[in-house]
Amino acid sequence: METSRIPGFYNMTVDERIEMLKKLHDFSDEDIDNIHKKAPLTTDTADKMIENVIGTFELPLGLGLNFLINGKDYVVPMVIEEASVVASASHIARIVRKSGGFTTEAAERLMIGQVQVVGCSDFPAAKEAILQNKEVLLEAANNAYPSIVARGGGAEDLDVRILNEDSNSAYSQMLVIHVYINTCDAMGANIINTMVESLAPIIEEMTRGKVYLRILSNYADKCIAKASCVIPPELLQTGEYSGEEVRDGVIHAYEFAASDLYRAVTHNKGIMNGIDPVVIATGNDWRAVEAGAHAYASRNGTYSSMTVWSKDEYGNLVGELELPISVGIVGGATRVHPLAKFAMNILQVKSAKELAQVIVAVGLAQNLGALKALATDGIQKGHMALHSRSVAVAAGATGEMIDIIARELIKEKQIRVGKAKELVEQYTK
Ligand code: MEV
Repeated sequence: METSRIPGFYNMTVDERIEMLKKLHDFSDEDIDNIHKKAPLTTDTADKMIENVIGTFELPLGLGLNFLINGKDYVVPMVIEEASVVASASHIARIVRKSGGFTTEAAERLMIGQVQVVGCSDFPAAKEAILQNKEVLLEAANNAYPSIVARGGGAEDLDVRILNEDSNSAYSQMLVIHVYINTCDAMGANIINTMVESLAPIIEEMTRGKVYLRILSNYADKCIAKASCVIPPELLQTGEYSGEEVRDGVIHAYEFAASDLYRAVTHNKGIMNGIDPVVIATGNDWRAVEAGAHAYASRNGTYSSMTVWSKDEYGNLVGELELPISVGIVGGATRVHPLAKFAMNILQVKSAKELAQVIVAVGLAQNLGALKALATDGIQKGHMALHSRSVAVAAGATGEMIDIIARELIKEKQIRVGKAKELVEQYTK
């Protein structure tokens, strides 16, 4: 994608947007048909993905625009049912691109497989046996999944801990082995689980204990992606609020989330408003990302803000977000769901690391969008403008009537289905 700036995209019809996308990308008619003319996910494919299928369930797919990340433009597919989210992310991305865009990194990408061993007669000796045989275990893990080794990945290291060593502990003593696995561009759940399951008999022999759980950890703290942005205050000016006021409001909002659990949860929910839609659009496991992200937000012992907002020596607003993002661009639904494949085509990422970086940049943008609105006019003004269209549709408005009724609802400050029904009746008389 040459640019992710598409002026007027918001005001185009869906067909015009698709035409624009066709111009920017080399999409075939079949790709385009998949978006809105035919069922994008057939019941047959769905039936092979999960059990007891009776159909499919659709959600809106929108495009986050204006994203400039490490000097590269991204059009970001986002699947979400909530109004304002895509508009807000695009609005902030437009501000950030004026100050050079987002800077991101994802240095390491190792996933963790855990093996639990109980009932060892001598836990320290069992731990030592594992450490002494580290290379044997890594080789056995890799033999269980040779294709990932052929792709340049595989089990690279391992660690052992003894849990509940204190005899007063309410829980049984156990040995926990972490196998660190490079899953390349896959999220890797199947690779990890196959590897750790294969180690169970060898570990039982080495430790003289009993292995119970063998499963990946969704606390992917060796799979961290970071995003940051630096915004001069003049780019933040909004209505009657000066850029400095907006900047200070955002920093105070961050401080609120950093010091209060009730606010931190809502603040972080707003970040996930940006993250989940991209994870879903690309066919990834959003529960895994959600679970890991919230746990990472309490890594210092207290659940806190996922982002950090501060002011640098020049008075610029500086934002940072760092999260475990365990996503893939191969395997799972990413290559099965036709719209996930299409989303990947729009996004044009070449690796799982790159996808993780786009995801954290969107999370950071989404957070700033919410804080900027909350610290100034509040979110209802913008939100209700968008919400009014859904209300109009719920009241039976169709075609051009939708916008007319939505505008009337806003004018009358009554964004209710009852009021919208009255207006639909008047309009259709
Ligand atoms: C709404 O979906 C998300 C917000 O509540 C986030 C926040 O309060 O920061 C607006």
